[in-house]
Amino acid sequence: RQALDSPLYPLLDAAAEFYRQALKGHPARQAAVNYLKGRGLSGVIARDFGLGFAPPGWDNLMKHLGGDSLQQKAMIDAGLLIDNPESGKRYDRFRDRVMFPIRDSRGRVIAFGGRVLGDDKPKYLNSPETPVFHKGQELYGLYEARKNNRDLDEVMVVEGYMDVIALAQQGLRNAVATLGTATSEEHIKRLFRLVPNILFCFDGDQAGRNAAWRALEACLPSLQDGRRVRFLFLPEGEDPDSLVRQEGAEAFRARIHQQAQPLAEYFFRHLMEEADPGILEGKAHLATLAAPLLDKLPGANLRALMRQRLGEITGLSGESLGALASSPTNDV
Ligand code: CTP
Ligand code: MN
Ligand code: MN
Ligand code: MN
Ligand code: MN
Repeated sequence: RQALDSPLYPLLDAAAEFYRQALKGHPARQAAVNYLKGRGLSGVIARDFGLGFAPPGWDNLMKHLGGDSLQQKAMIDAGLLIDNPESGKRYDRFRDRVMFPIRDSRGRVIAFGGRVLGDDKPKYLNSPETPVFHKGQELYGLYEARKNNRDLDEVMVVEGYMDVIALAQQGLRNAVATLGTATSEEHIKRLFRLVPNILFCFDGDQAGRNAAWRALEACLPSLQDGRRVRFLFLPEGEDPDSLVRQEGAEAFRARIHQQAQPLAEYFFRHLMEEADPGILEGKAHLATLAAPLLDKLPGANLRALMRQRLGEITGLSGESLGALASSPTNDV
């Protein structure tokens, strides 16, 4: 599904190398180094993730790599340069940012995320879609997670670059991030090809909680019996980065152990917030919401068990739930 031997790969790799070297030796590097240190990251973890620095200025990378116009054209295709046809100006996309190289499953650099060192906007700038980068399919940190875990058994899905890296810094080396997009069925299929267990741990804010429910929906079609999905909800205002830095790896692991909710548990808890199971109308509504979602489950046993649970909550028998599921008015 990707250009197998695109000339963009060596170019992106050279750009990653340039950014890495700039973090080590550019005269303006100190602000970036201080920034990363201030966020609790060591040089070792920076190296593990290939972190870099795009120096301030409009054409550092262009001067370094873009010798001729053909090369500059390729850099535009790779998302490294921005070309403004009206002004005829070309310039580096990433300037004065900490750089996070995004790798594909084979470890090739396919894109970048860049973070401002302060509070400017946009906080993160990402590569655009290119022939080698399809945002909705990639997971940041997946290559690194596999490389660092011989027998990876569970992947933790988080929101951000810094969440992945801060967790790794603390020794939790199995986190991946969707790239500023919602978790897709495609993401889930990819993960379940590699591991039987997925743990979602999004930010402790409304956006994170909304993202969790959308992730649950994306999981249903892949949730065969023998696979497990869990959700860890964080305290308001925290994200995995802030929390693991505060409380350390052991406490974070204990939190996962004690508080992560299996998908089925989160499913019913959430629906019982949507519809009041204390009244008949609520039970009816709850069944209407739940039935089409349960129909998506490919695992016959989990599906049966969850239907049974739905029956217990609503008082509807298996047969009436079945009728509900197949009723045409149910598809809203
Ligand atoms: N994101 C993005 N563009 C933005 C904001 C966010 O692409 N302008 C993506 C990034 O991948 C980011 C993730 O969404 O890592 C989560 O966003 P957010 O929680 O706002 O950022 P944090 O990762 O917590 O950022 P930081 O801790 O560096 O402030
Ligand atoms: Mn957030
Ligand atoms: Mn967010
Ligand atoms: Mn954060
Ligand atoms: Mn966050």
